[in-house]
Amino acid sequence: MNTIIDKIRSEFHREANAIKDLKDLEPLRVKFLGRKGLLSTSFDRISELPKEQRPLFGKALNELKKELENEYQNLIKQFKAKEEQKRKLDLTLPGRRPFIGGKHPLLIVADEIKDIFRSLGFSIEDGPEIENDFFNFEALNIPKTHPARDMQDTLYVTDDILLRTHTSPVQIRVMQRQKPPIQMIAPGRVYRRDTPDASHSPFFHQVEGLVVDEGITFADLKGIIQAFAHRMFGEDVKVRFRPSFFPFTEPSAEYDFSCVFCKGRGCRVCKNTGWMEISGAGMVHPNVFKAAGIDPETYTGYAFGMGIDRIAMIKYNINDIRIFFENDVRFLNQF
Ligand code: DAH
Repeated sequence: MNTIIDKIRSEFHREANAIKDLKDLEPLRVKFLGRKGLLSTSFDRISELPKEQRPLFGKALNELKKELENEYQNLIKQFKAKEEQKRKLDLTLPGRRPFIGGKHPLLIVADEIKDIFRSLGFSIEDGPEIENDFFNFEALNIPKTHPARDMQDTLYVTDDILLRTHTSPVQIRVMQRQKPPIQMIAPGRVYRRDTPDASHSPFFHQVEGLVVDEGITFADLKGIIQAFAHRMFGEDVKVRFRPSFFPFTEPSAEYDFSCVFCKGRGCRVCKNTGWMEISGAGMVHPNVFKAAGIDPETYTGYAFGMGIDRIAMIKYNINDIRIFFENDVRFLNQF
């Protein structure tokens, strides 16, 4: 007796669970609760049972009927609510715009610098950010007593291994593996032990330039820097070289571009000088050639540095270097 009740119940549940749509509910009702459904026909078979079992079976069937009718009503409610939900979905609404990333302003400027030098015949080289003392200092003719080697200025990993303080070590690596003619730039990240402020960051970005061949002169250096200035900031930008000192070049110079904001007349950005300092340059020192295994009697060359962050600050008129590294999307979205 109970097995009939259980069978009907579990069959009802199995079929109810398989239902996906409101319109499939009616056949379920007909099959179980309809006039000729499983429950009705079970009632009809009460007379086949022994007399004393009939009231109990009738009662159990009645209870099952109530139970299944209840469940059936709940199913109707559930499916109606689902349909309602579907109707509320407004397919005419415009889609949500996905958040897509973009190029960081420093990457935009680095790519632009690379494109300019590539078009001038330079190769793009790379070197490690964790560097040996030899490549970062020794081979660049920077003596043991030089202040840049101080623990205060350089981030050391061990006595001999450090985070490169400039991209100049890539010069040495390239000269060691490649014979002249060499015409390369090396963009990349560099590190210094600085407390961050508007113009200092413990890491920033440089581009190193190196050209080595027979008969290279300071005039070639001036020509290339001039060509770069024109392509980067426009034909009316002037370039000037001032005598300076770097251990790895002789003679050495610092070079400036005429202020792009006031066209050289003098303004707040250039502190009324009309000029913006860019970086250093010079003719490769014979000691550097020797350290890299290149004969200084046969070859001459020039080298220059350049700050990517500095050029980006000029290009986009940004006065605080830290904003490049904060990753604030309100800033980054503007590029
Ligand atoms: N390495 C220098 C610096 O970090 C920049 C520099 C100056 C690079 C003169 C050069 C150079 O190649 O010739 O400030």
